[in-house]
Amino acid sequence: MAHEHVCPWWMIHTFDNPVRRLFHDPEKMLGPYLRRGGRAADIGCGIGFFTLGLARLAGETGQVYAMDLQEKMLAGVEHRAQRAGLSGRIQTKKVAAGDLGAADIAGSLDLVLAFWMLHEVPDQAGFLRQVKELLKLGGLFYLAEPKMHVGAKAFDESLSLAVGLGLRLMERPQVRLSRGAVLAA
Ligand SMILES: C[S@@+](CC[C@H](N)C(=O)[O-])C[C@H]1O[C@@H](n2cnc3c(N)ncnc32)[C@H](O)[C@@H]1O
Repeated sequence: MAHEHVCPWWMIHTFDNPVRRLFHDPEKMLGPYLRRGGRAADIGCGIGFFTLGLARLAGETGQVYAMDLQEKMLAGVEHRAQRAGLSGRIQTKKVAAGDLGAADIAGSLDLVLAFWMLHEVPDQAGFLRQVKELLKLGGLFYLAEPKMHVGAKAFDESLSLAVGLGLRLMERPQVRLSRGAVLAA
């Protein structure tokens, strides 16, 4: 395991399973924020519950980067992408804790998603700075944290950090079991 607070690969199916679709519908939730042909990253993608939805929204001419610390998660994304016929528009990328190593795509993304992962990141300011660098001007950052692990005060502190780094708070979407926000670069 890459870090002691990181969700282990064997735990992912406890929440990434068919029942989850009853309360999280990736295309419905993210549709307002990504157009066809758009470019997105799903950071802390796990085995790709949201990555596939983003790839469907981005369409054939779009591109989605699935980033995670753990090889086993990325292998899960690749397996699912292949089965769904979406491999051509999903690129997996193993990242290091504290370094997304994504200078090649800096300033090019329309949307960055960080779903139920920020609380696992020890240096949130460093992470949020890198998220901002990935976004185009006007690009969006969709953040969702699990209510079970992140209280309202802690979530607001993360938002303050993001705003302090120059992201603008645009919206507080209702996300089941979660605290959500959409910010713009
Ligand atoms: C609780 S899972 C959520 C997975 C997925 N976003 C979902 O909602 O199904 C958190 C994921 O974030 C990843 N992660 C944690 N810290 C990370 C970091 N600094 N950079 C990239 N991925 C990270 C973990 O490896 C794990 O796959």
